[in-house]
Amino acid sequence: MNLKQEYKNRLMSPEEAVEKVKSNQTIVAAMAASEPPALLENLTRKVKELEGVRICTCLLMRDYGFMDPSLEGHILNESWFFGPWERKYYGSRMASHLPNNLHEAGEKKAEKDEINFFWGTAAPMDENGFFSLSLGVTYEKIMIEKAKMVILEINENLPRTMGDTQVHISQIDGIVENHVPLVELPPAESTEADLAIGNYISDLVEDGSTIQLGIGGIPNAIARNLQEKKNLGIHTEMFTDGMVDLFEAGAITGREKTIWKEKMVGTFALGTNRLYQFIDQNPGIEFQQGNVTNDPYVIGKNHKMISINTALQVDLCGQVVSEWLGGRQFSGTGGQADTHRGAQRSRGGKGIIALRSTAKKGTISTIQPQLPAGAQVTLGRQEVDLVVTEYGVAFLKGMSVRERVRRLIAIAHPEFREDLKKEAERLEIW
Ligand code: COA
Repeated sequence: MNLKQEYKNRLMSPEEAVEKVKSNQTIVAAMAASEPPALLENLTRKVKELEGVRICTCLLMRDYGFMDPSLEGHILNESWFFGPWERKYYGSRMASHLPNNLHEAGEKKAEKDEINFFWGTAAPMDENGFFSLSLGVTYEKIMIEKAKMVILEINENLPRTMGDTQVHISQIDGIVENHVPLVELPPAESTEADLAIGNYISDLVEDGSTIQLGIGGIPNAIARNLQEKKNLGIHTEMFTDGMVDLFEAGAITGREKTIWKEKMVGTFALGTNRLYQFIDQNPGIEFQQGNVTNDPYVIGKNHKMISINTALQVDLCGQVVSEWLGGRQFSGTGGQADTHRGAQRSRGGKGIIALRSTAKKGTISTIQPQLPAGAQVTLGRQEVDLVVTEYGVAFLKGMSVRERVRRLIAIAHPEFREDLKKEAERLEIW
């Protein structure tokens, strides 16, 4: 195979690539920092001529304009995980959520729907004809297998990552070159409450544990609190900047891991260029597909596996709402249920939900007597293991409703405890 010729044969402009889309077809785009910007920008122009196109995305990092309400009927965005842009257009009927657990998102979609196009990004081809899918293989490799046409946007700024990220030119139908700066998500500033939560969590994480850190402000603070630990391992969905800090502080060696010993395992990376440089050609970083990293049975094979995720609300029985706010979809389940369940299968494992006790500058308790009508629950009360706020730790697994109520009120903000107690009495759960 003449690889240079094969490459040239597939080369096209983004305009030519989007011209291939027809009415009523389905496109799946790679997620978050792996999204293909040139293709997505050009899609908006093209869909004005089309009807009934579906584009499946996950945590879009930019507003490409294709969810503009003027395009209703031309295109619908189906999203596995909402970010700011999907939230912006939610009420305009342009973005619909695709409920999922991360480990089955790709497989289930490809099983149920015909996928006409997969649009992804990759680091340039090597001398053997392989591209690296770089920043993520959550569902991207499954789509490369299943889609009728695969187009990759090649960006020389993307890191060449290791593990199950390689894809051969013979699996690709089209190549678009677009060497743009990578999209970054800087870590959020930690609040005092976040650091207090991190302190409690640090007490729950023994040396030699394997950890997963979820998305949001609190996990960054937790990473800071774990820097004194020894021989931690990483088995996560998302690689973050906080993990680079932990590695550089000497807290991560992976030496006591029971699977993928000494490797940090994850399925996508989202952070700053510092993280992207850290994972570039780093043999200590193992990317595996989302149906592997997030399979609760695989997660549970790790010993002392600690999953740490964030939520928006918890009710007094322990139901966890992490993706729904103010009567609307806010984000998605992502890997929260996978990792919370998987950690509890692990010998010595713990599933931790961490949240600030209040929101809106202290005016609202995040621990509520009941969930608002219509709230979508991410973890049922039967699933939840531990809840942590800046006021302490509530161990819920194995506890009666009455005991859960008592424990959750004890970690609620002091200003709301009396009202919560009164409501619990009225609801006859006290
Ligand atoms: N009532 C009203 N508003 C609330 C609230 C509540 N109970 N809880 C939070 N908010 C507000 C915050 O004040 C903040 O508002 P602001 O942007 O105006 O400051 C906003 O909602 C976002 O909250 P915040 O806690 O800052 O969000 P985050 O960026 O830290 O993300 C989750 C937290 C829960 C949304 C995020 O972790 C998530 O989507 N989790 C679900 C999926 C998951 O955990 N997957 C595993 C990893 S892929």
